[in-house]
Amino acid sequence: MNTLCLPAQRRGILIAAEILSSGGLVAFPTETVYGLGANALNEKAVAGIFLAKGRPMDNPLIVHVPGLLEARLYASFTPLGTLLAEAFWPGPLTIILKRQGPVPASVSAGLDTLALRAPDHPVAQALLAACALPLAAPSANASGRPSPTLAAHVMEDLSGRIPLVLDGGPSLVGVESTVVDARGETPLVLRPGAVTPEMLAMVAGDCKLADSLLRDLEEGETALSPGMRHQHYAPRARMTLVKGSPHRVEALLRSLAQGQQDTWVLAMEASLPALSSLSVHSLGRDAAQAAHRLFYLLREADRHQVQRIYAQALPPTGLGLAVMNRLARASGFDLLDADAQG
Ligand code: TXA
Ligand code: MG
Repeated sequence: MNTLCLPAQRRGILIAAEILSSGGLVAFPTETVYGLGANALNEKAVAGIFLAKGRPMDNPLIVHVPGLLEARLYASFTPLGTLLAEAFWPGPLTIILKRQGPVPASVSAGLDTLALRAPDHPVAQALLAACALPLAAPSANASGRPSPTLAAHVMEDLSGRIPLVLDGGPSLVGVESTVVDARGETPLVLRPGAVTPEMLAMVAGDCKLADSLLRDLEEGETALSPGMRHQHYAPRARMTLVKGSPHRVEALLRSLAQGQQDTWVLAMEASLPALSSLSVHSLGRDAAQAAHRLFYLLREADRHQVQRIYAQALPPTGLGLAVMNRLARASGFDLLDADAQG
């Protein structure tokens, strides 16, 4: 199959809507990462997503809708679900509720729940309007690779496997949406993202984190929520995270990476001067910039055939929690504490 990559303008969006209406797949930009969309009501089209990505069939998909009005057709909204949708949609928040209505069970891998999101991106919204369908869409990477934040990343992974990629430029946020279970009275975060636990607690009064999120970061255990069972975000290089006070982290990074071949260091801007003797790449000034650059840097490392990556850990608060969650998983939970080293 020949894959077209078109600018995400009127003509491209109309062609995309036609492909989706006839059961085909289209990759499109959202504010988080690029998604690989199919008509969520068409079981065969949805099966095509799993095939194109090489995605395990037991990993459920997110259904994208214009807003709360449409979302109500596919799930039973709790007061909490309504509250969160009203506060954060359109935006980088995926809400899990009890599935009801016409979306086939295969979309949520047989679970009785459904993940719903209204994306905050003009192209995603224009596409949803043009096809007037709910779109099942996982991140548009080949399964196991870092999520795509550029149309070129989608082409790298899926060229020849899908008919069309809409190019809407770089994704603003850069990490996938926050996934929150809203079936109870308190939001339960299954995957951290740009809607932070702090923001959820402000609206809902309280917010819980899935145990697995913290265990992953603290003890290196394997995660429990559906998508977290599978290996994800992994660059080909072996990766290690280094946490601790900046001076100690910088010293340890120097001792680990100095003079090593095919070795990259990812560090925050403030630490760059202390690491100038290394092959160092900036994660930016803060967690938001780190989120925006992270997947791009992991893919660049692959392109340069880097064998070893050392990354500076961020404080796991705010958007830093999302960045650390992805870094921890990309490293296979390989974490060094510079403050604990002799
Ligand atoms: O930002 C995003 O969320 C992007 C854009 C395209 O919307 N999509 C995305 O989809 O990251 P995906 O499939 O790569 O990740 C969806 C995550 C997975 O971890 C999956 O296990 C979880 O959401 N998920 C989906 N449905 C679920 C459900 N019913 N219950 C629990 N987790 C669910
Ligand atoms: Mg994904």
